Amino acid sequence: MESALRVEARRLADEPLRELFARDPDRVQRDVQEIAGLRLDWTRQRLDGAAWDALYERAAACEVSEALCALFAGERVNTTEGRAALHTALRLPRDAHCEVDGADVVPQVHAQLDRVETFVRRIHDGVHRGYSGRPIRRVVNIGIGGSDLGPRMVCRALAPHAQATADGVPLTVQFVSNVDGAALSAVLREADPETTLFIVASKTFGTQETLTNARAARAWLLRHAPDDTAVARHFVAVSTARDRVTEFGIDPDNMFGFWDWVGGRYSVWSTIGLPVALLLGMDGFRAFLGGAHAMDEHVLQTPVSSNAAVRMALVDLWNQNLLGAQSRAVLPYDERLSLLPPYLQQAEMESLGKRVGLDGQVVTDATGAVVWGAVGTDGQHAFFQLLHQGTRFIPAEFIGVARPEHDLPAQHPLLLANLVAQAEALAMGKDEAAVRAEMAAAGQSPEAIDALAPHRTFPGNRPSTLILLERLDPATLGALIALFEHKIYVLATLWGINAFDQWGVELGKQLAGQVLEDLAPGATAGEHDLATTATLDWLRPRLPP
Ligand code: F6P
Repeated sequence: MESALRVEARRLADEPLRELFARDPDRVQRDVQEIAGLRLDWTRQRLDGAAWDALYERAAACEVSEALCALFAGERVNTTEGRAALHTALRLPRDAHCEVDGADVVPQVHAQLDRVETFVRRIHDGVHRGYSGRPIRRVVNIGIGGSDLGPRMVCRALAPHAQATADGVPLTVQFVSNVDGAALSAVLREADPETTLFIVASKTFGTQETLTNARAARAWLLRHAPDDTAVARHFVAVSTARDRVTEFGIDPDNMFGFWDWVGGRYSVWSTIGLPVALLLGMDGFRAFLGGAHAMDEHVLQTPVSSNAAVRMALVDLWNQNLLGAQSRAVLPYDERLSLLPPYLQQAEMESLGKRVGLDGQVVTDATGAVVWGAVGTDGQHAFFQLLHQGTRFIPAEFIGVARPEHDLPAQHPLLLANLVAQAEALAMGKDEAAVRAEMAAAGQSPEAIDALAPHRTFPGNRPSTLILLERLDPATLGALIALFEHKIYVLATLWGINAFDQWGVELGKQLAGQVLEDLAPGATAGEHDLATTATLDWLRPRLPP
């Protein structure tokens, strides 16, 4: 028997959004929700009341509320690794409780936060200084994936909230992730070894790219410093792996810890957020955590039909599994959020890129979508053509901020006008009759109208979600990111997959080690396929020794 959702999807298949708007005037009341400084607007989704109800039934059938309770309670929801996924515990207030294996983790979380606070103050006040006695001016975070994208995105987004140090200016905070030496060398070229602090951020402290860059940074420092006591002044680590940090040569006193129940791509709230705390100061970082906690409370306590994270997930499920979308465009109309698309790309694609369910069986529905995007208005002049008139069905997520924080606020209405206009154009389109009438009014010949009208027609009916922020401050950004995190978990629950493992990155890592050996001068290609062998043979003589 056809599921209730399929019945709804078939009923709405040929119904343009224009029609839905006409016969469903309550959609603004029903499909706009304000929460924690965010205005979420699903009115331009191809849904009506009956379709929403069928989605809520699916959420109930998949026990989404129960799954959320299990997540917050610290149950081992990461089943393939036997771990909890307690990023929510990282943003609990000091007087809260949350147990893992019978132990309350909140005191540990706040102990690490307090250590971060002390360190930030010492750096800002010039108490912790470089080897020559000069204060630290530049911070370089060396990490990759979840140990990079979160703090990098947040530091970019909240740069206008940077806190001045005792020197009167904020720290310069930079990020190096790629093992391509071009990335680190560009940063080192500008850096002064006497005033640069390196944060080596790696949950496992075993990631080749990060350790390679960290070793190169240490060698650079030691080329300038009088002796290796400088390492303790210029290197700190953020990790769960104390032994490996010590083995690398970083004093455990200079290590900020976190726990295996924090997933890498959910770790910006942990000490992985150290660059954020150094840039914003601790009040800013705590406000960021507070915003996420406010969203946590909403998501944990609100029934599915008014739960923002559940509704967001259901919209993705609808577009993907019922309407056939394979990707989603994330389109922030704000320069400060330019790194949100790559951040969400990791969060969603690493979490939801799974083909086997919790039961070990290959899933039958499509899971994680391709997440991509870029800031408006740039995207409009690059790829929006395909969104408007291409043959693919690509739902969009527009994100805008009501208040700018720069010196040219008079340009802001134009920016937001573009955001709203794009959402309207995608939804409503422009039919051929309107195009013909417009061309005729402009005095074009009937032949020209016949030839051009089909090219100038916009089919419309292309759905989007609008997320508007009152302002982009630490608390609102925290709420926004927490909302996406919970959406991801709800989607994983709806699909019956594990959002918190990432076995799919392992094979490439293993092979890279073998390939590196087989690329060495004089090596012969080991046991590889024909194509790999030929590639190695071409590369080997061309690589630097
Ligand atoms: O590429 C997989 C991955 O494990 C990510 O999940 C993680 O965020 C990243 O590598 C970095 O890992 P680590 O923090 O252990 O260096």
